[in-house]
Amino acid sequence: MGKQLLLEHVNVPGIEKLDVYRAHGGYKALEKALRMKPDALVEEVKKSGLRGRGGAGFPTGMKWSFLAKPEGVPRHLVCNADESEPGTFKDRYLMSHLPHLLVEGMIVSSFALGANTSYIYIRGELLYVYHILEKAIAEAYAAGLLGKNILGSGYDLDLYVQPGGGAYICGEETALIESLEGKRGNPRIKPPFPAVAGVWGRPTVVNNVETIAATVPIVNMGGEEYAKIGVGKSTGTKLISACGHINKPGVYEIELGLPVEEFLNSDQYCGGVKSGRKLKAVVAGGSSVPILPADLILTTAKGEPRLMSYESLADGGFQTGTMLGSGGFIVLDETASVVKNLWNFTRFYHHESCGQCSPCREGTGWMEKVLHRIVEGHGKPEDIDLLWDIQSKIDGKTICPLGDAASWPVASAIRHFRAEFEEYIKHPEKIKDVKHYYSVRNQTAPVA
Ligand SMILES: Cc1cc2nc3c(=O)[nH]c(=O)nc-3n(C[C@H](O)[C@H](O)[C@H](O)COP(=O)(O)O)c2cc1C
Repeated sequence: MGKQLLLEHVNVPGIEKLDVYRAHGGYKALEKALRMKPDALVEEVKKSGLRGRGGAGFPTGMKWSFLAKPEGVPRHLVCNADESEPGTFKDRYLMSHLPHLLVEGMIVSSFALGANTSYIYIRGELLYVYHILEKAIAEAYAAGLLGKNILGSGYDLDLYVQPGGGAYICGEETALIESLEGKRGNPRIKPPFPAVAGVWGRPTVVNNVETIAATVPIVNMGGEEYAKIGVGKSTGTKLISACGHINKPGVYEIELGLPVEEFLNSDQYCGGVKSGRKLKAVVAGGSSVPILPADLILTTAKGEPRLMSYESLADGGFQTGTMLGSGGFIVLDETASVVKNLWNFTRFYHHESCGQCSPCREGTGWMEKVLHRIVEGHGKPEDIDLLWDIQSKIDGKTICPLGDAASWPVASAIRHFRAEFEEYIKHPEKIKDVKHYYSVRNQTAPVA
């Protein structure tokens, strides 16, 4: 097992409590941070090479340095804990087991950004995690780690947890901001970006749970040391939630650069494909990223071993590559149906489209309809090209990337598994017994 910077103490009994967290080195990063200048902290994060763990992988230090700082205008840090991407369940794991790691990261990061009021926007359905966070925050206030004059430093911070609006779209950062302000969670047109006009029109940084938690080890060890872990521009560790046809579904912290083959087959991680069956495909970064067949997920088109890193997974572009995304690693074995799985994903995107942009509102529904008739055994030969056409008219043509997220799975499934579509259309009886493997409602449990 590689370095465990976030999950090192995850199995310590009572680690969710302040005294136990502190006994294991908790809040040392905060003490160190408060002795530093905020700009020096931003520099450390830049040096660390940390990239946003919410999906897009944008460099965190750079995002922080974009934050506008007009005189007399408050600014805010918002933690994106909406985690609703099918296949991704790492943030809820981190927050429910190590709530103080997130709280400490929020204080450190808010101090670096000069924010005095910060928010954790948590997916509404994760009510049990909301209560865990509220408890941790109350403990932190009582210990002088939040509120006025934190640890005698003169720095003040109030931290609020806001339950989300119960929609996947509320994870898109500007929809999240709308929802946080009490409105319907519709994405905003950018610019202006949140760094200039975010919550209440004020400069705002939105970061993922894991990104914010990672600032704690970065402060403790220093940005340069952190950057030594990983490979190339993929520095540090990454939480991966692994599910589907594997022997050991769960949340793992890996050092970026781990070969995919090792992640899949090693007993320390996924433990191999379930029941010794053959690997068919992997969706490597949550339901939105392109699906890859077994050969291309294990090896790039150049014949190099594929690594769990931003660059290696993207090698080959969308023709032969995919994305690390939010780290939801979904494994399909030879018994699974890519087409049925795709129909299930597409149903999700149709349901979750906010409806603002016509290509997404209409197109996701059309794709669901066409896929439904294929899985019901009524597909027509022209349906494959029709699906291709619809997805190409959504991709890149919407206000927010939900449209892209809905079109990429369709495009990649057709690109790599066209023969399976053709087979179902030619022999509708064949699809009757095939299980798609993935249940959006029960994200962690493999079905077949
Ligand atoms: C439809 C949609 C849903 C998203 N859901 C989440 C989410 O649940 N959590 C998250 O951190 N980012 C999510 N994102 C990405 C955010 O918009 C944003 O890029 C991210 O919170 C930035 O944090 P990071 O830089 O730390 O990754 C979503 C994006 C889209 C388009």
